[in-house]
Amino acid sequence: MARLLMEEKVFKDPVHKYIYVQDETIWNLINTKEFQRLRRIRQLGTSFMTFHGAEHSRFSHSLGVYEVARRIISQFERNRYDDWPSEERLLCLCSALLHDIGHGPFSHSVEKVFGTHHEDWTCRLVLGDTEVNRVLTEADPELPQKVSDVICKSYGKEIVVGLISSQLDADRMDYLLRDAYYTGVHYGTFDLERILRVIRPHKGHIVVKESGMHAVEDYLMSRYQMYWQVYFHPVTRSSEIVLRKIFERAKRLHTDRYAFQFLMGPLVGLLDNEMTIEDYLTLDESYVQMTIMQWSKERDPILSDLCARFLNRRLFKYAALDDINEAMEHELRAGLLACGIDPEYYLEIDYLTELPYDVYRAGDEEESLPIWLLDGRNELVEISRKSDIIRSIGSIHGGKHHIYFPAELVRNAESCLSPEMRRLLGLDER
Ligand code: NI
Repeated sequence: MARLLMEEKVFKDPVHKYIYVQDETIWNLINTKEFQRLRRIRQLGTSFMTFHGAEHSRFSHSLGVYEVARRIISQFERNRYDDWPSEERLLCLCSALLHDIGHGPFSHSVEKVFGTHHEDWTCRLVLGDTEVNRVLTEADPELPQKVSDVICKSYGKEIVVGLISSQLDADRMDYLLRDAYYTGVHYGTFDLERILRVIRPHKGHIVVKESGMHAVEDYLMSRYQMYWQVYFHPVTRSSEIVLRKIFERAKRLHTDRYAFQFLMGPLVGLLDNEMTIEDYLTLDESYVQMTIMQWSKERDPILSDLCARFLNRRLFKYAALDDINEAMEHELRAGLLACGIDPEYYLEIDYLTELPYDVYRAGDEEESLPIWLLDGRNELVEISRKSDIIRSIGSIHGGKHHIYFPAELVRNAESCLSPEMRRLLGLDER
């Protein structure tokens, strides 16, 4: 049952000004140790190495997503829309608040090495023996399963899932504004208040009133800009790659029974791919930073070098390429080996692509719920059919190849690379 607090609680927030908590369940969830842990996980992973302001946490983002969801629902309730299932209010708010609770330290780099997924951890934390589970169960014994279903997008009501995860959802609306604010860039801003005013529930979907189309165009442009200017920034990618190589090296050493000077509880679980909930909660970003500090003194030269690079921000340099083929890649690896540089840990070829808006085509397997416009005749039209701007940005994949490598090592090892390879890596230009 949704019980209200005697007195509303308020958080000061730089993006939404204030975040209001009225429900006892939400307040109790915020105070669980699993949710408090999110203060110790950065929202943008290693982006702080590129944009030094980007130190904000998943805690602030999660509160922000909750607040956006709360404002959307409160607008629906104020307008008394019949199509809004009011009994789902608490479920939506809990799911918004908890949607990222399974994120581990530097998720993007670490998950790739260990094949774990933060979504799976979210479900484990919501359904397992945790404080979050107890708070949800106390409100309604079915709530943990429902929250897990909403977050994993298997819940039966599209309107509930769409609020938390679609192409126009509370999650994206918060992170675009928040990440823009903390990185200090201007691209990510759009008129949130306006969007909140023009969306409404309609026959099981969340839709946008046609007059709100330009506000949505602006939001999608922000997303496009944020991807290319912030999330895919090559220096950030470089720091993610170095971090990933650290864990790849550690995993290899662990498999080869190398005697680490420093390896404690949750790290053993991580390297063995067998973490308990308690291990997972212990392993926050401070723990990983401390480990990297210790590993920078390990005897293994590759591990200690990679860790020192991460700590002191001596990242890999990059060269941008239109295309790279297998023969080139092969020659590059052979060249590095000849220089005495192990390409396994000192070379990465990265290809990035992201659609700012995934244009919906009938019959498609839907990756992400499309954005629907409600036109003057009360009919639903997928937004890219009405908007030239959205249709055109919907086809920008923007794919680019980057080669990452330790330029100073390669430059010192003069003779092992052919002139073509040196040109490819841009070595002679610097
Ligand atoms: Ni999120």
